[in-house]
Amino acid sequence: MTYNTLEVTKDGGVCIIKLNRPKALNALCAELTKELDDALTKLEADDKIGCVILTGSEKAFAAGADITELKDGTFLGMYKHDVFGLYWESVARFRKPIIAAVAGYALGGGCEIAMMCDFIIAADNARFGQPEINLGVMPGAGGTQRLTKAVGKSKAMDMCLTGRMMKADEAHACGLVSRVVPLDDLMETTLEAAKKIAAQSQPIAMMTKEAVNTSFETTLSQGIHFERRLFQSMFSTEDQKEGMAAFIEKRKPHFNNK
Ligand code: CAA
Repeated sequence: MTYNTLEVTKDGGVCIIKLNRPKALNALCAELTKELDDALTKLEADDKIGCVILTGSEKAFAAGADITELKDGTFLGMYKHDVFGLYWESVARFRKPIIAAVAGYALGGGCEIAMMCDFIIAADNARFGQPEINLGVMPGAGGTQRLTKAVGKSKAMDMCLTGRMMKADEAHACGLVSRVVPLDDLMETTLEAAKKIAAQSQPIAMMTKEAVNTSFETTLSQGIHFERRLFQSMFSTEDQKEGMAAFIEKRKPHFNNK
């Protein structure tokens, strides 16, 4: 897969998508989000890929939507092109596990895209923020919703209303990121996690992701009901038989994704 704004590389069952507009700190322009949508569509169809890593540069994961493209926007134009709906949501819609490896700035749409991933591993130089209010707008790609669900009302209000940036340790303390590691270890740590996920049964990992995500959309009892049905359905898979047999036989499981 060759793109103008992305670098895509594969390592076994893991695909690494690197946002690659260094001069604009990976600002998320229309071309980039379209290419990202295209890459994710292809990776979803690629049976060999079990986990994706979305990352940027050491200086910026992404400094937000491309302000040069937005500045002359009109309501009707943005509505017609479904700005932040059409291509951006492909990260949230992606059905396989996807991890954000964040170094440097993850601001505005950059923070929002990272939050669309299943979890975030941050380098110690990461900076998160929803600075849109400084531009006379507010987050438009899920920031007011996903940030609030991730860190609670008080911190989300603080971030969205002041537009300040949050360092990696604060992001970790409030639950926005799952781990913070030294910058030099970011890709190695994330790759290790991604390889672990890719070695699992793909359908079981996908269903696990679906179950966790369902907790954001349902009541507790509906979520538990959904989880139980999915759990029971897993007993129709070969991978459940293999996983449990391997444990009993004290060997490593070999999942077939069936
Ligand atoms: N859009 C377009 N270009 C951007 C950009 C963005 N979001 N962020 C940075 N750039 C460009 C700069 O214009 C600059 O380009 P030139 O060299 O051609 O002048 C280049 O990237 C480097 O940026 P800086 O010189 O500003 O670098 P810095 O180290 O001094 O500052 C920064 C870094 C604090 C991240 C600063 O660039 C900044 O504040 N960027 C904007 C962040 C922002 O407001 N993001 C929200 C965008 S709106 C949004 O995302 C809406 C949504 O909900 C989806």
